[in-house]
Amino acid sequence: MNYIPAITGTGVFTPKEIITNAELVVAFNAYVDLYNAEHAAEIAAGTLDAKAYSSEDFIVKASGIEQRFVMDKTGILDPKVMHPLFRQRSDDEPSLMAEMALEACHAALAQAGRQASDVGAVICAASNLERAYPAVAIEIQQFLGVQGFAFDMNVACSSATFGIQAAADMIRSGSIKSALVVNPEICSAHLEWRDRDCHFIFGDVATATLIERAEDAKGPYFEITSTRCATEFSNNIRNNNGFLRRSRPDGVADRRDMQFMQNGRKVFKEVLPMVAEHIAGHMADSGVSASDLKRLWLHQANKSMNDFIGRKVLGRDPAPGEQPNILQDYANTSSAGSIIAFSKNSADMVDGDVGLICSFGAGYSVGSVLVQRHG
Ligand code: COA
Repeated sequence: MNYIPAITGTGVFTPKEIITNAELVVAFNAYVDLYNAEHAAEIAAGTLDAKAYSSEDFIVKASGIEQRFVMDKTGILDPKVMHPLFRQRSDDEPSLMAEMALEACHAALAQAGRQASDVGAVICAASNLERAYPAVAIEIQQFLGVQGFAFDMNVACSSATFGIQAAADMIRSGSIKSALVVNPEICSAHLEWRDRDCHFIFGDVATATLIERAEDAKGPYFEITSTRCATEFSNNIRNNNGFLRRSRPDGVADRRDMQFMQNGRKVFKEVLPMVAEHIAGHMADSGVSASDLKRLWLHQANKSMNDFIGRKVLGRDPAPGEQPNILQDYANTSSAGSIIAFSKNSADMVDGDVGLICSFGAGYSVGSVLVQRHG
């Protein structure tokens, strides 16, 4: 028996705190002043480079990002701290990721007119898991009251689309009837806020996507007509943090590569053709042409990147609303970005409309999901 998988609900949890580019740059430049004063002797002796200021103009021009939501802004904006400060939780309390995930999951369930007890599985698909085990997904499963099973998966920025493919395939085969794919992303905790090349890139958020058998949908839904995932190894986006730290000569030192590292220019140049070819191949093999496509919900890393992909896929400049960006408000939220774009820009689609969700990033990885609106 082959069932048809469908997205019946999505939800977004948005943290309460916002950091504008202006606030971010003031804090960063204050940190630069402190750093340069502290290392004045080495800088004067030529043994250490002075740090340079960041600028709002550069951030907007290079990325399109204007602000980001975060779980804690006080630590990030304190030039003597420069990272979020979270209250330490006991093992009996919900973890931060689970707490963020729950609100997104409840919103997705409400949109679909479903209870948690209707759901068969939870996949927590995210770039940064706050612990190795037990799986955050199982904790979310317990707090929601979902039967069945749950597991974590990490394909960096592509985690959501890879998670959707995994859930859709399980629904197709009949092993489950429905699944929540949830993407809680605490990007602020792995970003190096002291590095001006990337300090503006990320924000925090959680998204959730409920996938059910189309025949079970209680309202309008997006049939998942096909999915495609691809990976190709690259070191250009990397984070070396992990449990092997303790065995290294410098132990758990605050090393630069314990946080997000990227060679942004190379990523830009290498990922763009990979994504454009991936989408073109997926569409061609699915019999979908550019003129069939009503909307593109792309990964939200960089505005120029999205403009380029939109032009390549459609063969022309995307019309307003055809390829909605949310990165100006949320920054890069890793795996959640394309789902925020979908969740906030799909309600106006009408019966028969076709769209494509696509995310891409570290690995390298790229995942695309073709959907068609029903109802
Ligand atoms: N403020 C002011 N100037 C800055 C700056 C800042 N915050 N950060 C860098 N600069 C300077 C650089 O030092 C460089 O100066 P130089 O020309 O004198 O050497 C210049 O601005 C250009 O820097 P560069 O890093 O080459 O910028 P860019 O145009 O490549 O934009 C990114 C940087 C990160 C926005 C861009 O490369 C990008 O988005 N890449 C893809 C990222 C991506 O998708 N990653 C996936 C993550 S999941």
